[in-house]
Amino acid sequence: PPGPGGLPLLGSTLDVMRRPIAFLDDLAAYGDVVSYRVAGQRFVALFDPAAIEWVLVDRHDRFRRWSGEEWGDTFAGYASEGLLLTEGEQWRRQRLLLQEVFTPVRIETYTDAMIAETERTIGAWDEGETIDLAAAMSRLTLRILARSLFDIDLEEQGDTVRRAAEALNGRANARNPSAFLPGWIPTPTNRRLHRSMDDLESLVDELIENRRDEAADRDDMLSLLLTAETDDGTTLSEREVRDQLITFLFAGHETTALALTYALHALGRNPETRRRLREEGHTVTGGERPTLAALPELSYTDQVVSETLRLYPPAYTLFREATADLEIGGYRVPEGTKITIPQIRVHRDGRFYDDPERFRPARWTDEFEEHLPEYAYFPFGGGPRHCIGMRFARLELKLVLSTTVAAADVNPIDRSEPTFAPSVTLQPADPIEAVVRKR
Ligand code: HEM
Repeated sequence: PPGPGGLPLLGSTLDVMRRPIAFLDDLAAYGDVVSYRVAGQRFVALFDPAAIEWVLVDRHDRFRRWSGEEWGDTFAGYASEGLLLTEGEQWRRQRLLLQEVFTPVRIETYTDAMIAETERTIGAWDEGETIDLAAAMSRLTLRILARSLFDIDLEEQGDTVRRAAEALNGRANARNPSAFLPGWIPTPTNRRLHRSMDDLESLVDELIENRRDEAADRDDMLSLLLTAETDDGTTLSEREVRDQLITFLFAGHETTALALTYALHALGRNPETRRRLREEGHTVTGGERPTLAALPELSYTDQVVSETLRLYPPAYTLFREATADLEIGGYRVPEGTKITIPQIRVHRDGRFYDDPERFRPARWTDEFEEHLPEYAYFPFGGGPRHCIGMRFARLELKLVLSTTVAAADVNPIDRSEPTFAPSVTLQPADPIEAVVRKR
């Protein structure tokens, strides 16, 4: 495939480090299937929805998820037996088992925790207080996750999880040369990562031990992991249970926290949108807490969620590795090639979206969705490895936003478009501060 070329080893490394998101525009200018190199690795980026669907869905069996193994692994060897990183039979067993706690009926039972934790968060804010939005949302979503999935109150212990997530993002930040170095080299970011991950493993081991005796009588996800027998009559190993907890503590809180951060920032910049959101909430609930029955009627709120995940997709790029020689879009792609699927760039492609950089929830009409190519919008991925927490996340985003705008105006101090420091997830480059005005 065509692409920017550059020196054999260096390729586009400096561009990726300096301007990771703008670099995707440069790539897309070469076509829909583009070849480039970063730190000695050859990549093929896909910008065409049909090619993306082919990789994620139609021929998913010819690909595996790639998490930067050649660079020492994004997760530095941790959580390797959790659902995000396993493959083949082991993955299938885990996915079948875990699907039980993500059925629509089960997810509905998490509604109360989502609303109550949001009210508690807002209740703790002072009138006129300046908050760090990303930090506040991260504490909130972690508490929601721990309560609904594990039936655990994570108070100060939550900081252990958040420190580890920060260290992972610090290491995988494209601006940091550590991102391209093996995890065992004792750079400051690697040492910090190992320290915080070891603390997290101790915390998780403690949570597991505290639950073990009661697990048989309970039905939360942690208890299920400890007691469940899979189809073939085996249980999960200790390592699999621990890695599952670490996986869900990370995958389940940071993504939703980022989406909420960008959503509240966008609402602060667009008071008319915020007013409409609040009005819809009020009309539907009569000023009471949102309930499950009212959810389908919160259609504008749903549009706000869709638009947020389009412009600010927390999992902004997906990675795969070809496990066979293939042809994509008429180009030869040899086994071992790393495939990048830059979701954030496809979500902002003028071929599919009018005025693509603008936050405009009203674009999400049924008619618009009908005509949109299937994989021009895929915030939760696709195919068998799509996000297991998708319904959980969408419900949470809807409820937290609706509850928040009813109780407070969260007014960002800097109202310009946020800039990104992409890492494992789409982190903001600078802290996003906002002033709270209670209603
Ligand atoms: C996988 C996005 C929330 C758990 C994924 C993938 C995406 C994604 C794009 C697929 C990655 C790939 O194919 O390479 C998001 C977004 C979220 C979110 C945007 C919030 C707005 C959650 C939540 C949970 C969760 C709330 C758990 C409670 C997972 C897990 C996987 C996954 C375990 C791996 C699934 C597998 O490989 O079988 N997520 N996610 N995510 N997500 Fe989410």
